[in-house]
Amino acid sequence: MNEVYNKLMTCVESIKKKIDFQPEVALILGSGLGDYADEIQIEQTIAYTEIEGFPTSTVAGHKGRFVFGYVNQVPVVIMQGRVHFYEGYPMSDVVLPTRLMGMLGAKKLILTNAAGGVNFEFQPGDFMMITDHITTGVPSPLIGPNLDELGARFPDMSEVYSKRMRDIIRKTAEELQIKLQEGVYVQFTGPSYETPAEVRLCRAMGGDAVGMSTACEAMAAHHMGMEVCGISCITNLAAGMSKEQLNHKEVQETADRVAKQFKELVTGVITRI
Ligand code: HPA
Repeated sequence: MNEVYNKLMTCVESIKKKIDFQPEVALILGSGLGDYADEIQIEQTIAYTEIEGFPTSTVAGHKGRFVFGYVNQVPVVIMQGRVHFYEGYPMSDVVLPTRLMGMLGAKKLILTNAAGGVNFEFQPGDFMMITDHITTGVPSPLIGPNLDELGARFPDMSEVYSKRMRDIIRKTAEELQIKLQEGVYVQFTGPSYETPAEVRLCRAMGGDAVGMSTACEAMAAHHMGMEVCGISCITNLAAGMSKEQLNHKEVQETADRVAKQFKELVTGVITRI
């Protein structure tokens, strides 16, 4: 059997031994947004380090565990701390947790992240619903022998971010009176922030926000038939767009400032999907 699939199934079995829970929705929390998981009705948590073969996350501010529980009666599994490509893991490991949540039964995936605003209309603290993505320099998570058990060799990517879910996000934001931008997310490898020239490239390519995650996870989830949506928290203007230099502290501070609204939006979306 395929090595990547084997590893995935080892992790799935390891989790199933610890918990009997069928999530409907999977949620991946981005930088500064992690404490959402502490506020739901928690059934059980499983630290990544407890799962055999699981890539463990190293970024400060990312906790590193699965939280199983309920958001307004909806059974969810939350990744509190994601795995990033820039940590040095192979791309198959980066998307392993996403696939794992799918294998546990989650049919829907909500991706969140902190991102730099590339679109001149955006301001720090805005939320952007992801309509599509572009990857630059990031290898596809689908490279390698196809995992036929999960999906097709040449999957269609014309609607990675579900139109149905996008309509729900839009409606939820409107009802909650939360300002919502929409746009294309560009994933770079990180860990450095982009150069101003790269940010101009993003804009020329049709990008609206830039970050170091998400698109790869969306691709892996879409490949295996999960319904996917994504929301970025625009924590800063991307490099070269303001006089300030970029730093992780600023990213975290903005994310913290709007965390309450973000949580309301995510809760609203989970309840409606
Ligand atoms: N670039 C890349 N990733 C980010 C940024 C950025 O400007 N802000 C938050 N995550």
